[in-house]
Amino acid sequence: MNFLLNTKKAIILIPSLFCAFSIFAQTEEVFLVTDFDGGGILPSTWESFGDLGLYGVQRNNSLSDGKYYELAWNGTSDKGYIVSQSGITFRLIPKKKLKGKTIDNVFLRLDVNCGGAPGTVVNIVLVDGPNDCCKNEVNWQYTFTKDTCEWETLEINLADFGYAYGSNNHEKTIDFTKVGRVKIGINPEQGPKKQVVQFDNVELVVKENVTAQGYQPNIVIPESTTLKTAAKDFFVGVAVNPERVRATDHSSVYTREFNSITAENAMKMKSIFKGLDENMKIIYDWTQSDAIVDFAENNGMNLHGHALVWHESIPDVLENFKGTNAQFEAIIGQYITTVVKRYKGKVDSWDVVNEAIADNTTKMRESLFLERMGSNYVEKCFEFARKADNKVKLFYNDYGLEHDVQKQKGAFELIDGLKNKNLIDGVGYQMHLDYNFPSKATLQTATNLAVDRGLLIHFSELDIKTNPKGDVNELTEQRNQAQAKKVYEVVSVYNNIPENLKYALTVWGLKDDESWITPRYGFPDWPLLFDANFKRKKAFSGFVQALE
Ligand code: G3I
Repeated sequence: MNFLLNTKKAIILIPSLFCAFSIFAQTEEVFLVTDFDGGGILPSTWESFGDLGLYGVQRNNSLSDGKYYELAWNGTSDKGYIVSQSGITFRLIPKKKLKGKTIDNVFLRLDVNCGGAPGTVVNIVLVDGPNDCCKNEVNWQYTFTKDTCEWETLEINLADFGYAYGSNNHEKTIDFTKVGRVKIGINPEQGPKKQVVQFDNVELVVKENVTAQGYQPNIVIPESTTLKTAAKDFFVGVAVNPERVRATDHSSVYTREFNSITAENAMKMKSIFKGLDENMKIIYDWTQSDAIVDFAENNGMNLHGHALVWHESIPDVLENFKGTNAQFEAIIGQYITTVVKRYKGKVDSWDVVNEAIADNTTKMRESLFLERMGSNYVEKCFEFARKADNKVKLFYNDYGLEHDVQKQKGAFELIDGLKNKNLIDGVGYQMHLDYNFPSKATLQTATNLAVDRGLLIHFSELDIKTNPKGDVNELTEQRNQAQAKKVYEVVSVYNNIPENLKYALTVWGLKDDESWITPRYGFPDWPLLFDANFKRKKAFSGFVQALE
């Protein structure tokens, strides 16, 4: 659509002109791929794998990969490209080579709207093309939820895609004959059946000087700059345990770099709740939790309590409890009240309930708490905590909130209910990520869900897998840098949160060799900011660079 394209260009021009006077002058060169009106370099090369039906392209089963469908543009339209059914894939095989441009410089930009079906969820996935080396898939993903159907311009940095390529071509140049496909898929389980997405005006954009503002692999951070000094308006936290806070090699780094701690395990129910006496009074063991609380207090650190109620930390006595549901609930009330009161004024915030929503659904996770206390058990737990200490900040904490659109929906429904009753202060996005997933845009969209609601935000358990598929035996330079870049993106997104909503960014452990990831997944991994010798990694530099 030419009109739209022109309007958009005018909008782009204004910031470009403005930028021309700033230190990081940025110029743009735009290669129109197609405007679907006959302009651009692609239309004649687009292949059709399906039929154009009433609502757009119909799926062709023989070419389906099960998740998205192998369909491509076929024909002209003055309304943009309208897609229904379960999604489409279009082939992006520009004839231009942009040699000499770093991957960081090149963006895919397209206009998208939800074609009259508000609430449509669109996933865009870049996959390696038929001509490239690796045939990897889902190396990049952008997800957005639209509440209105106005056109919106998306811009995707192809650097996020670049790591799908082999070491020969991923760093220095990008050859667009090797960018294979861009998939646009609609989750068929959501919303009306005739979900529609329109996209238009696909462009490749080369931005000069863009890398000057991004992560720089060769910058070494001076010794005197620490994580906590770099972060000016939020806490930088680390997950700790009682043995390590006692060990000076660890504790000296904790106190040098961090100003907040979370107990990795010591304040979970299983660590504290040791039994029930004959009057159904809980028998407590405070040894481990007290060690953490004392360390925070002695070193003037913020202390985040993790976690009062979690389906993975239930003491045996509760798992095997034979009493009534009312008795079970009273025990949970007793537990939350006692723990929160004991640490009143010492613990600054609590994860009241951890991971209550099931993966890829909007539903509550099946758990003993759900079974015994009913579908409003989360609210009950927050009420117990609020009553015990009305000053301590209360958080709902979960993983996958960074990218799982269904879980986001379920979690934020729950959170909205708690917020209406003034029972919650913040959201914890755990941030157990991969070196190549999810994209910065996806993280930004996820974070906005809490920002829009005015909630405090905790990136509560950051670690970044460098070997999620177990295909390397050592931390390669490529993965090391990719991880650093992902850290840079995470911290940039966090740093952009309005100051009054920033709480803390916590990393889930200090050193690579102490992370939960290797024992859990069975592959060697290097997911943290420090190596096994307490040495700062590139990921550390990525963290600090994002704050400069
Ligand atoms: O302490 C015992 C030790 O005595 C025993 O010899 C050893 C044998 O396996 O187990 C040790 O306990 C382990 C404990 O970590 C301490 O290392 C448990 O088996 C193990 O299950 C436990 O894993 C923890 C896991 O939560 C379950 O509680 C991880 O350290 C911890 O990083 C992980 O953290 C969770 C967050 O709480 C919530 N979000 C996800 C995150 C990762 O799973």
